[in-house]
Amino acid sequence: MPDPTLPTSDARRPILELRGIRKAFPGVLALDDVDLKVFPGAIHSLVGENGAGKSTLINVMVGLFKPDIGEIRIDDTPARFNQPADARAFGIGLVPQELNLIPHLTVMENILLGTTPLRFANTAVDWHAMRAKATKVLELIGEEIDLDVEVSTLSVAYQQLVQIARALAQDARILILDEPTASLSIPEADRLLALIEQLRDKGCAVIYVSHRLPEVFRLSDQITVMRNGRKVALLDRAEANEAVLVRHMIGRDAQQREHRQASVRSASKPILEVSGLTRVGEFEDISFSLHRGEILGIAGLIGAGRTELARCIFGDTRRSSGRVLLEGQPIEFRHPSEAIGQGIAYVPEERKRLGIFPALGVAENMTLPILSRLSRLFQIRWSRQRSVTDEFVGKFAIKISSQDQLIRNLSGGNQQKVILGRWLATGCRVLLLDEPTRGIDVNAKFEIHRILRELAASGLAILVISSEFEEVIGLADQIIVMHEGRLKGCVPASEATQEKLLTMSVA
Ligand SMILES: Nc1ncnc2c1ncn2[C@@H]1O[C@H](COP(=O)(O)OP(=O)(O)OP(=O)(O)O)[C@@H](O)[C@H]1O
Ligand SMILES: [Mg+2]
Repeated sequence: MPDPTLPTSDARRPILELRGIRKAFPGVLALDDVDLKVFPGAIHSLVGENGAGKSTLINVMVGLFKPDIGEIRIDDTPARFNQPADARAFGIGLVPQELNLIPHLTVMENILLGTTPLRFANTAVDWHAMRAKATKVLELIGEEIDLDVEVSTLSVAYQQLVQIARALAQDARILILDEPTASLSIPEADRLLALIEQLRDKGCAVIYVSHRLPEVFRLSDQITVMRNGRKVALLDRAEANEAVLVRHMIGRDAQQREHRQASVRSASKPILEVSGLTRVGEFEDISFSLHRGEILGIAGLIGAGRTELARCIFGDTRRSSGRVLLEGQPIEFRHPSEAIGQGIAYVPEERKRLGIFPALGVAENMTLPILSRLSRLFQIRWSRQRSVTDEFVGKFAIKISSQDQLIRNLSGGNQQKVILGRWLATGCRVLLLDEPTRGIDVNAKFEIHRILRELAASGLAILVISSEFEEVIGLADQIIVMHEGRLKGCVPASEATQEKLLTMSVA
């Protein structure tokens, strides 16, 4: 008698299977004997610390990297991918960790990139068919997006959808998403997760990578945990919880999450006072003060104007009106270098684009802004550079093969840790952080929070922009909430809840 609770044999046949995959880079064994089975109509999550090998494994599945050893099977038949087009032909679609849309092409052109319908013996673009096809995929996604606008004008959330639409236009049966919610606000992420569930219900096989464990629990049928390039666990949803996952991820029990003892606002004058700050079209009439030793959180949804506010304080853009006082002195920087000169550091949100020097090594990337301090008579004190780098590599558990490894070859999360280390090493007095732990694994995140608390305790004033309400509540003393460029209020973290912040953020 067949067991009626088991799915039919067809559904239990993996649509995609990896066997014994190995991939080495100079100095790193990125994948070591990895197996994976993915089923139609099911979501399989990949989790692991930064540098565990998740993106590398995905690159193997989409034909970007050739494994050194191992087999890829589709529908139980060995498949060889010599290039990404081969994987696409098998119905494998990818939404990569770094979106690869072409900013100055329209939504329609981006959706149909690689599948553009041609006519007249393949010499002319068939605009009519293009439009029909793009419309059809967007209907599938259930979103209305203007097909004719340049993709660069869309928010990240919509760009994400365009990227998914492209995969669907290529008839993907296997959809791979590498940290798709990392740059989304909570309601946006929620919509995306619902879409992924719908696609799963339509029979799509989904491979999902995320550091946000609640999402992993919500979506997954199965979870593969990776550590140091190896598959260390395969769990069914029912056996997985945060403690179990983190234990597999780091190979030991997680450190206790520390909650912050709200620091008493010092009676002293604030170090940074912002009043009535306005930049027309971006934010309006923003006032707050930041004290020494304090962590101030700025919560809100993406597009609330928080990044624009930070950039304006930092001298990257000019204000329309309002005042900023630094230790009681009015300041108006014309350039970020002036802000840095006054001891203000800003770690931008798009570290990948704005923060790294891809062709330089880890140590150089970490110490670039402090090189003059490390230098004597025009000679960089290499040993100091090495020891500063060592300190942060150790503190943040950054996975590198050597200090000279090119930063562009690090995993996404490890690149972020390097840039964060760079700014913490500058010894500033006011630190502006924009989404400091985006894409950073759970354990490193706690470690970064701990370091920020220590820095605050030693007198630094910290402003943290974060779209994760849990993060601002756990980290900040006071939280200000912004919505559509305006200040919605200020709450002490001790009185804040996720629901309260969400309510303030949306209206
Ligand atoms: N092109 C490359 N050249 C050299 N090393 C690489 C390259 N790509 C990845 N690596 C190394 O392989 C290892 C695995 O990296 P991978 O990007 O797969 O990690 P990940 O699990 O996706 O991490 P994250 O969560 O930070 O995105 C890392 O040690 C990384 O430095
Ligand atoms: Mg990755």
